[in-house]
Amino acid sequence: MTTDPSELRIIAEEALELVPEGGTLGLGTGHAASAFLRALGEKVQAGLQVRGVPTSRDSADLAAKLGIPLTTLDECPQLDVDFDGADEVDPDNNLIKGYGGALVREKIVAAASKKLVILVGPEKIVPRLGSRGKLPVEVVPFALSPCSRALQALACEPHLRRDGSQPHVTDNGNYILDCDVTPIEDPTRLEAAIRAIPGVVGTGLFLKMNPTVLIGLGQRVEVREAK
Ligand code: A5P
Repeated sequence: MTTDPSELRIIAEEALELVPEGGTLGLGTGHAASAFLRALGEKVQAGLQVRGVPTSRDSADLAAKLGIPLTTLDECPQLDVDFDGADEVDPDNNLIKGYGGALVREKIVAAASKKLVILVGPEKIVPRLGSRGKLPVEVVPFALSPCSRALQALACEPHLRRDGSQPHVTDNGNYILDCDVTPIEDPTRLEAAIRAIPGVVGTGLFLKMNPTVLIGLGQRVEVREAK
């Protein structure tokens, strides 16, 4: 079950309360992040001053269409708040992201932000990361075969993400391997092991980033801070 657009709007409006006037923002990717961008666009039209660094071409296009001024990490190396969605949130607010394919830029922007705010529906809340069975890993195309074999050796069966018959190509010109996982015993260890494979650019594990998580529960929003 996915959260419907009217519920995403309610979460987005709660997130707007965390936007500082004159602030620099990370602009996430996906349905929840797009709902936030639309709500933010209305505020900008009404006079709110902000600038945002988009985490994907899709978010850049949407933000530009909504009149949200864009900037870059070259101009603004540190951002005030990053707003994004997630695919899994564990009890310590660790995340899996990347079902939408923007994981690498999302992690760069999250790491460059003083605060990370995650917008999700209740279907994303899991007892343990990996519960939904998928971990996206971005790899350099040249390294597709060795990365696939190394991931298999870690018991993460990789599946090349495709657009129709062609491999899906990320905004960074790379491929994504969607790995079958079971609930992950030690996410920090798995992250280190995957990151050590030559050719891996990044994983969807977002660990110890201490986000504030906004969970839409129908007409209300639960705010969950990292423990
Ligand atoms: C994009 O790469 C993802 O990390 C998204 O942020 C995540 O998949 C959540 O997207 P939805 O809000 O569309 O579920």
